[in-house]
Amino acid sequence: MSESRLFQPWSHKSLRLRNRVVMAPMTRRMAADDGVPTPAIAAYYRRRAEGGVGLIISEGTCIDSVHAWDTLTVPRFETPEQLAGWSRVAGAVQAAGGAFAPQLWHTGPLGADPIGPSAIDMPGRKDRLAARRVRAMLAPYFPQLWAAPPGAAAPARDMGCDAVEIHGAHGYLLDSFLSPRHNLRTDDYGGSPEKRRRFCLEVVQAVRAAVGPEFPIIYRFSQWRVDDFEMIKFAAPDELTAWVQALRRAGVDILHASARDVMAPAFPDVDGTKTLAGWTRELSGLPVIAVGKVSATLTMDQAYGEQPDHVSDPAPALALIDSGQADLLAVGRALIANPDWAQIVGRGDWRALRPFHKNMLKELL
Ligand SMILES: Cc1cc2nc3c(=O)[nH]c(=O)nc-3n(C[C@H](O)[C@H](O)[C@H](O)COP(=O)(O)O)c2cc1C
Repeated sequence: MSESRLFQPWSHKSLRLRNRVVMAPMTRRMAADDGVPTPAIAAYYRRRAEGGVGLIISEGTCIDSVHAWDTLTVPRFETPEQLAGWSRVAGAVQAAGGAFAPQLWHTGPLGADPIGPSAIDMPGRKDRLAARRVRAMLAPYFPQLWAAPPGAAAPARDMGCDAVEIHGAHGYLLDSFLSPRHNLRTDDYGGSPEKRRRFCLEVVQAVRAAVGPEFPIIYRFSQWRVDDFEMIKFAAPDELTAWVQALRRAGVDILHASARDVMAPAFPDVDGTKTLAGWTRELSGLPVIAVGKVSATLTMDQAYGEQPDHVSDPAPALALIDSGQADLLAVGRALIANPDWAQIVGRGDWRALRPFHKNMLKELL
């Protein structure tokens, strides 16, 4: 058995985990058109909990049926039927010994009816959204957006979820507010780094007010965007400091630092080894989830090409937990390919892992 701290229990506020393995949020587009998570979705998450995962973060689940979604087969988190479906998912995961957090998602400029901080074309977009022009969010729409995240977070707490994750990463609504290329506003929500952060922080404050002081809030942010994989959003540690400390003051408990490669140095000119998770932990003082390319050789954007992936030794990622650069380790594609990833790696048998292949996304197994 591995002696890594990855396999030891962890707790924070009301969150109690049997180990520090997290399932990364991964959109599967397998819900019914009414946005209700099906029994097959519950079985898929239960299977990963049975395989030993400590905390399962759901695929992004959309928080309103007005603008938050991109396709109808993405599950939503709004109507009584959708909430009942998620309650069954949470119950199935918890019955298998895991903890469960839904990832609350607003796709914003990448949605079916794209809205964002400013009216812009989608730079860098090559798919069906390339021709769409994002509509700027007008003042009357702000109250609906402030209401949607807490409107989903409170039911998540009430149905017994162990935490919620706010999806603030990868170029979707919240992330777009941070980007000077996508946020051209000249009102209180744009024009300076502080004003660009404001909308995200107001959302966090609204969620905190809705769930009370003890319920854990995870916030996911990233350097990269789905439409610009090489993007560096935080160019230097002081930019990251301002951001993560503001999130902490707004009421976030755990930061989920989404990186292309969990081991890559975030600011190589300043420090040749410290990762995005390591910097985030040091600068925020908050617990951090590290993620990106664990036990895989291809980064996420390469995984959809023709090049086959290979399994790699997860030992360096485990060392991040053991050295204190990160508290929890999220695993994405490797957990689609290997529901038992935690047990296999826990017994030191990583060579028995199966490599991820994009065809695995066609089925929900
Ligand atoms: C099929 C797929 C769907 C994803 N969907 C989401 C999502 O809904 N929300 C999110 O924050 N990240 C999403 N991601 C990113 C993953 O959470 C993770 O950060 C990324 O896959 C890197 O981890 P890995 O190398 O272990 O796969 C997705 C990734 C994949 C492969």
